[in-house]
Amino acid sequence: MKASLKERISCGSLNKQNNETHVTVAGWVNSYRDQGGVIFVDLRDRSGILQVVFDLAESEDLLKKADQLRDEDVVIISGRLRLRSSEAVNKKIPSGEIELLAASLEIFSKSRPLPIPISEHEGEASEDNRLKFRYLDIRRGPMQEALKKRHEFIHKVRDYLNKIGFWEIETPILNKSTPEGARDFLVPSRIMPGEFYALPQSPQIFKQILMIGSTERYYQIARCFRDEDLRKDRQPEFTQIDIEMSFITRSIIMEMMENMMRDSLRETFKIDVGENIPVMKYHDVMENYGSDKPDIRFDMKLVELGDWADTTEFQVFKNTVKNGGRLKALCVSGGAGLSRKEIDDLTHWVGQDFKAKGLAWIKHTDAGLESLIAKFLLEPSQKELIRRCASKPGDIIFFAADKASVVFATLGNLRLKMAERFKLIQDNDWKALWVVDFPMFEYDETEKRLNSMHHPFTSPVEEHIEKLIGAADLLEKGQTKEAQKALMEINSDAYDFVLNGVEVGGGSIRIHDSELQKSIFSVLNITPEDAEKRFGFLLRALKFGTPPHGGLAFGVDRLLMLALKRESIRDVIAFPKTQKGQCLMSEAPSDVDEKQLGELHIKSLFKK
Ligand code: AMO
Ligand code: AMP
Repeated sequence: MKASLKERISCGSLNKQNNETHVTVAGWVNSYRDQGGVIFVDLRDRSGILQVVFDLAESEDLLKKADQLRDEDVVIISGRLRLRSSEAVNKKIPSGEIELLAASLEIFSKSRPLPIPISEHEGEASEDNRLKFRYLDIRRGPMQEALKKRHEFIHKVRDYLNKIGFWEIETPILNKSTPEGARDFLVPSRIMPGEFYALPQSPQIFKQILMIGSTERYYQIARCFRDEDLRKDRQPEFTQIDIEMSFITRSIIMEMMENMMRDSLRETFKIDVGENIPVMKYHDVMENYGSDKPDIRFDMKLVELGDWADTTEFQVFKNTVKNGGRLKALCVSGGAGLSRKEIDDLTHWVGQDFKAKGLAWIKHTDAGLESLIAKFLLEPSQKELIRRCASKPGDIIFFAADKASVVFATLGNLRLKMAERFKLIQDNDWKALWVVDFPMFEYDETEKRLNSMHHPFTSPVEEHIEKLIGAADLLEKGQTKEAQKALMEINSDAYDFVLNGVEVGGGSIRIHDSELQKSIFSVLNITPEDAEKRFGFLLRALKFGTPPHGGLAFGVDRLLMLALKRESIRDVIAFPKTQKGQCLMSEAPSDVDEKQLGELHIKSLFKK
């Protein structure tokens, strides 16, 4: 009897209840054991594993055929399911109480010896090899799980949005540049010599134009492309759940999105983010956690000491504050046990990575405060420090005195490191929050100009719109200093969704008024000519009846990485790029021949 693919049933669906039935299974040889006269094969498909027995007593020919099998050969087998003997039962898999006594075997294709291990018992290959032989790597359990969960999660999100009236609409990949703050990937045009498309950094402008096009509720599982320096949570191409809605306010969209996330995370990953997701202001999260994406699974807030500095005799603290800098502290409960070497390493690290000039510290012991700088603190000053930090014997207090950005980066990152060091984070704790009221602009020190903190289409909060128009006027009159001061005080109507200290989504209410949009461009030093050239189509569209609108985008890859507790974003993407932006399997990017370049009117300056 020849097995037929029509009758194929998945290995993972079989269990004791199927005992004594005839079945056909197909898949890969996960392992085989020859026990002389009997060959055991573990057959694997994407659903699971089934043990198959080839027995001399049943058929000599079949046993001979089975003897040719090697790991990862692809086969189809049919036979009768029977119970395993009690000592052979494997409780770990659904089919662990049964086995298939083979009656037929057909080999679809043979596999060469494997360059990387697939079974979980054999450990993991180097990441370069995993990426090079990705087709084999994807057969491994963790990758199968990641791809399955990714599919399920996106499916849930689609279901959710479809039910509440969203339309899934595709926007172009060959695009005009969209400003999201990264470099564009460019595609030369063959038909229009000397002209280029940009791959979308996000569908931002198109989704806003869809709102002007009265589509009202749009979403897209959108691929975005950004040519930026890669890290373990960044890819040059990544996927967003991209959303835009008309006739909404910030609170409406936040509530809808939070419900979508709560349901989809629970149903896909059994992650519970709780009913009341806190909303915190940018200013407060920076002051309390030193980060705009705080991990609130543990407390350990930064302590303000600006007004305390003057009660000490420590010149570094006093002078920093006197010169407009900041002084803050971090009290680590139980941290007095840190060794001198550990503290020296931390000091080196904050100097190297966050440009901190030092990392003063005080250990709180039973005998009092202990440190090189304790001698600069008189008793009242010590007492006040202990009070503010709520410190107790056994704790350590770290200090950072510097400009605000250095203080936040130093203590914010130290806070995370200490939580790890002292195991303050519980394994299955999930804490989400919204961060709102971001400053509209940030000052770029190197370029000496203002940039949008989110993107230039983000609206100021309603109560700051007048102020923005006023500041734009001041700028026009050449009163740059006054204008910049006013501009730095303007908050945007933007919101970020943060989960366990990772920014997984962000968005804003947009500008629906072309004049206000023009003012923003002028504040950002984008000339009217430049604005016309880059975004003329949006500015024109805004003049034809634009509804108030807003939206956001969630980073699918980052969410998956977090939810599945993977070290790298690459572990949740089927075919990711390396830190250098290469695909090690297909070997992209690669050079192209002169002829192809010629057709695109391109000449490479690169000399090999
Ligand atoms: P933003 O640039 O904040 O907003 O991106 C939204 C989310 O996308 C994810 N993300 C990334 N994931 C992987 N690799 C990257 N290189 C990468 N860059 C961003 C993050 C981030 O929170 N158009 C706006 C959204 C809007 O305003 O509606 C936008 O793209 O999780
Ligand atoms: P010094 O007086 O330079 O020997 O520094 C004494 C202590 O203060 C050392 O532990 C330094 O790491 C620390 N320190 C120096 N500058 C700063 C600063 N700007 N912020 C925090 N600690 C500092």
